[in-house]
Amino acid sequence: MITQAQVQELDRKDPLNKYISEFVKNDPNLCYLDGNSLGRLPKQTIENINDFLTNEWGKELVNGWTHWIDEAQRVGDLVGEASLGAKSGQVLVTDTTSINFYRACKAAISARPGRKTIIIDEANFPTDRYILQGIAKELNLKLVTIQNDIRSDSGQYNGSDESITIAELEKYLTDDVALVTFSIIQYRSGALNDVKELTKLIHKNGSLVVWDASHAIGVVDLQFDRDDVDLAIGCTYKYGNSGPGAPAWIYVSQKLQNELSMPIQGWFAQKDQFIMGSEFEKAEGMRGFQIASPSILGLRCVKTSFEMIKAASLRTISEKAAIGTSLMIEMFDESLAPLGFELTTPRDSNRRGGHISIHHIDAEKIARGLRIDKNVIPDYRVPNCIRLAISPLTNSYEEIWQGFIRIADYVKSGNYQHLGEAKSSVT
Ligand SMILES: Cc1ncc(COP(=O)(O)O)c(C=O)c1O
Repeated sequence: MITQAQVQELDRKDPLNKYISEFVKNDPNLCYLDGNSLGRLPKQTIENINDFLTNEWGKELVNGWTHWIDEAQRVGDLVGEASLGAKSGQVLVTDTTSINFYRACKAAISARPGRKTIIIDEANFPTDRYILQGIAKELNLKLVTIQNDIRSDSGQYNGSDESITIAELEKYLTDDVALVTFSIIQYRSGALNDVKELTKLIHKNGSLVVWDASHAIGVVDLQFDRDDVDLAIGCTYKYGNSGPGAPAWIYVSQKLQNELSMPIQGWFAQKDQFIMGSEFEKAEGMRGFQIASPSILGLRCVKTSFEMIKAASLRTISEKAAIGTSLMIEMFDESLAPLGFELTTPRDSNRRGGHISIHHIDAEKIARGLRIDKNVIPDYRVPNCIRLAISPLTNSYEEIWQGFIRIADYVKSGNYQHLGEAKSSVT
């Protein structure tokens, strides 16, 4: 059994422990294991947003745009350097993940005229699958969906970890494939796909790749430039701690920026924006990929959190994620596997990010009851999966340990069985 003294020793040695007190924590007894869904609020964000409201918007009014105008690029450079392994001039922080996904995919497809097939996987996040289905319909393309879903035909867990293997992808690559798109971390199982090797294979086929890094950014040591990534998108509100609905980001590799163009030609992408000319002429660099006025309020939240990530260093953050998920798996083996749970996340820490996923026939009720009865916030995803995360800047090892003790006690007690139907459709 892992003891409290052991996890307290891990916390004492943790170089990131000092960041925990930099986040708002209203309830010291809460075990928040859902930082992979929505990160905590940094105290500095409150200060920076208040300062922006009072001293910039409030005082400067429209004059503020003289220095806000390029902020999506400036914060993009910060996000790229702090968390994507991207040198400056390749990232914009703007719009939503879904919008950025749509435009990245459309840009990639247009760059491979004559090719009519696009590839995604069934375990990918729903918005990506739905958007790609829409694009296939709009452009009359053949959509191939690799069947790696965690559920069998009967709806139960089929033993898969959902990762994309080279051997599996090879079966689908033909000279008709324009675009392949995957998530770096599978949102449900937590499996980490091999960005470098899969990208290499896709390029060998003459196709382009769009990576969704939503569950990887801020927890996996991403190296987009080194791994020759074409395009990538993701959010900032999970391990990025930038707040609900905070602006997302898009990465366009420098090598493709002249070749690619966006499906929405907004005025922020215009070469001489304030000449207000009659014809669109794409601006150079990342400005050519920006549609419209960014949310400066949202950008300040992103800036504050990613400055913290930069200072903490992603290598140190990812090391803590590996130790924390290993701790969770050890506790899973000790106390949850005997209670009927199955682990759906890879056991090799190089093949996962910050969350693990466990399957149980009563997972929905257990996840709901833990919030009500045990002051533990996990995350639930169909079918029957509970996701549990370490967000390295905000969780102590002891919080994780305590959460697991409470989960095991709760399942042993069987108290969740008395819960009625869920009142909210949000999980
Ligand atoms: C992997 C992944 N992609 C895309 C999205 C969609 O993000 P948004 O609603 O911000 O567009 C999410 C949301 O959680 C996600 O987890």
